[in-house]
Amino acid sequence: MGNYPSNGNSMRMWLEFFTEAKITIIDNNERNFFYDFEFDRDRINTYVVDQSSISDLNSFVDKIGNEKFDFIIDDGSHQADHQILSLEVLFPTILKDNGVYFIEDIHDKKFVEYLPKIYSNLNDGEVSSNYRLEDPNTDLGISCINMYRSLICIQRGKKITR
Ligand SMILES: C[S@@+](CC[C@H](N)C(=O)[O-])C[C@H]1O[C@@H](n2cnc3c(N)ncnc32)[C@H](O)[C@@H]1O
Repeated sequence: MGNYPSNGNSMRMWLEFFTEAKITIIDNNERNFFYDFEFDRDRINTYVVDQSSISDLNSFVDKIGNEKFDFIIDDGSHQADHQILSLEVLFPTILKDNGVYFIEDIHDKKFVEYLPKIYSNLNDGEVSSNYRLEDPNTDLGISCINMYRSLICIQRGKKITR
């Protein structure tokens, strides 16, 4: 998600790192889809999508059809509301089982306030003697969460239970 104005170096890096990978880029500004270097166009798909808009995200999911992704990286607006909306739309619909969803720059207070929801999602159903987790309402299908400074990696899949 996101493609930095005019250079596309992030895309270039992924093409080099994953030599067989196909990459889909979404950005709300189509001017960011012009690149000043040669690359294999068969490996890149671009879509103009505003990640702050639920209708844009849903119509992107519809356009993608049955395609599912191994990885989704949100390096877009970096605004917590947009990060949360995108996660809730894209994670359950277009990420493969065992696929990983990365969100960069999660230091916004609103994202911190959202963390209990994904924690509850991961641990929903576990028995606790005194302080049960609140029912998260929606099961996103989270199997694992890794957190680093400003970065969260959320894996989709079957929960590991004891
Ligand atoms: C920090 S740059 C990262 C770009 C790319 N990942 C890279 O490393 O080259 C952020 C990108 O997100 C895009 N962006 C900003 N707000 C957005 C939104 N609401 N929806 C989709 N893309 C957005 C910007 O146009 C910009 O290209």
